[in-house]
Amino acid sequence: MADLLSLQLRAAQGEKLAILTGYDASFAAQLEACGVDAILVGDSLGMVIQGQRSTLPVSLTEMAYHTAAVARGATKTLIIADLPFGSYQASPAQALQSASTLLAAGAHCVKIEGGAVMMETVAFLSTRGIPVCGHLGLLPQSVNSMGGYKVQGKTESAAQQLLDDAHALTAAGAAMIVLEAIPAPLAKQVTDAITIPTIGIGAGVDCNGQVLVLYDMLGITPGKPPRFTHNFMADTNDIAAAIAAYVTAVKQGTFPAEKHSFYTT
Ligand code: KIV
Repeated sequence: MADLLSLQLRAAQGEKLAILTGYDASFAAQLEACGVDAILVGDSLGMVIQGQRSTLPVSLTEMAYHTAAVARGATKTLIIADLPFGSYQASPAQALQSASTLLAAGAHCVKIEGGAVMMETVAFLSTRGIPVCGHLGLLPQSVNSMGGYKVQGKTESAAQQLLDDAHALTAAGAAMIVLEAIPAPLAKQVTDAITIPTIGIGAGVDCNGQVLVLYDMLGITPGKPPRFTHNFMADTNDIAAAIAAYVTAVKQGTFPAEKHSFYTT
């Protein structure tokens, strides 16, 4: 049975958490069989499944559809589902309504993007029994105000802001925080400073866990892959073996390597 508390405990004891995105029942079953610690039904599905240019067009109905498919395929693994753009920013009440839809579809935890500005919403959901995963650094739902998919937290003030946001989300009751595309030393600083697990994607090896977009690590996303990913299919012709290799690499701390990470200098 999926258990967030045991996941948090294992992370606190030093075990690295291996998470991948998943969008359908067949892959969810494979991910579960290969021992991933959680499946993220990411709104990246807008890009890798639907062929959109960003995650912004993804609807709550679509997220619920894919979450339900994943929940049918993986019955024992923790399922985190993204609240899509426009489904939670208006008010905590709107977020509760949207989160309820994803929990009814089979999610155990919802992920929302943003820092201190989301504190009230995180507290509102978590005190009502809905675990929340925060998301800091590169926020794909804010791509239009971030000027593209760029590494974040590179200046001293941006790094301090991110650290403050991580503290704010932790104080509000977040269950874990995804750190996307930030310098590895900053991710380490955040990880050392807060009491909940950090899950990195392009954030170096010192996070408590890692997440990748499944289609990126299988090498089937069209176009140039992001620097922080690795094609685990390059060493095998077998999907299950590639997923298992990712899990092992994360657990052993051999992925991500320095070449997958960002530094300020
Ligand atoms: O939507 C997604 O897949 C994500 C990951 C990139 C963390 O948010």
